[in-house]
Amino acid sequence: MARVLSGVQPSGDFHLGNYLGAFRTWSEQQHEHESFYCIVNLHALTVDPDPAALRERTTNAAVLLLAVGLDPKISTIFVQSQVPEHPRLAWLLECTATMGELRRMTQFKEKAGGSEGVRAGLFTYPVLMAADILLYQADRVPVGDDQRQHLELARELAIRFNHRYGEIFTVPEAFIPKVAARVMDLQHPSQKMSKSLQSPQGTIRLLDDDEAIDRKVRRAVTDTETEVRYDPAAKPGVSNLLEILGAASGKDPAELAHAYSSYRQLKSDVAEAVVEMLRPIRARARELTDDMATVAAVLEEGAARAHEVASATYAKAAEAMGI
Ligand code: AMP
Ligand code: TRP
Repeated sequence: MARVLSGVQPSGDFHLGNYLGAFRTWSEQQHEHESFYCIVNLHALTVDPDPAALRERTTNAAVLLLAVGLDPKISTIFVQSQVPEHPRLAWLLECTATMGELRRMTQFKEKAGGSEGVRAGLFTYPVLMAADILLYQADRVPVGDDQRQHLELARELAIRFNHRYGEIFTVPEAFIPKVAARVMDLQHPSQKMSKSLQSPQGTIRLLDDDEAIDRKVRRAVTDTETEVRYDPAAKPGVSNLLEILGAASGKDPAELAHAYSSYRQLKSDVAEAVVEMLRPIRARARELTDDMATVAAVLEEGAARAHEVASATYAKAAEAMGI
């Protein structure tokens, strides 16, 4: 059975991009693989969050992962900081990664913007992510398109380590969905939908109510034409709506376009599809919020299971390096 690992930062409210790019694959594929899903609170420290907010978001992240359908009986759900091998292996890997390759990471370049005041943790972030993956000998890492380059680095570090110190790590592969791997902001369709608070009207949060979802979709930025056509370069707003509808309905976005002669009808169908898709998630999240003891128990058991696997891999890697 293939091993799967993926992670999510508890750095804000989860949104439709997280769901279509990642969580939905996680929950659909959990039965076919041995899966580990990690709430990466150490990664979230790189943006200097308020401590109380970080703690609360970490627990809320667990609620959401259960609400999207992860079953703790078959998937291991845990918090990164509860398994101390993550930062320990990250250090070993930092001693194999180069400044040059970390400097090439586009996410770092975007976030750092060339400033000398940028946190060192933001620079080494992708190495911690490689450690998350390699500790579990993951074959497959289901993520959205924005993580492609980080996955390439994880592969490169695994290959290099194995070559230098002996076959310790499984070389992981990214699994990126064919449709909606990069859901765009509804107000700024040239930017990806994200957890930052800058575009609340462009972001559909997983816990938004029906009315908010409907409003955000109807007000989504399109263009001054009228033709419904799938063409992400020329028509990013309309194409994003088609991607969302395609992901929600299991149909091809370009094919779907033929069925529409107005943006109005397209938006109405997208709104309805998203409302239907998210409603059960919101209901489950509400139930779980009333039962936080269960959520805490899931995380405790998850950390114990994760630790068993991670500590065995860490011991082998450290020993191979002469530690
Ligand atoms: P993050 O919120 O950055 O921790 O991301 C968690 C997961 O959601 C990762 O697999 C990301 O690739 C994915 N993701 C984040 N934003 C988007 C988006 N706008 N579209 C598709 N996938 C996304
Ligand atoms: N960097 C990922 C993101 O921002 C989160 C992440 C951390 C991750 N560790 C991981 C994803 C390991 C997959 C596997 O989305």
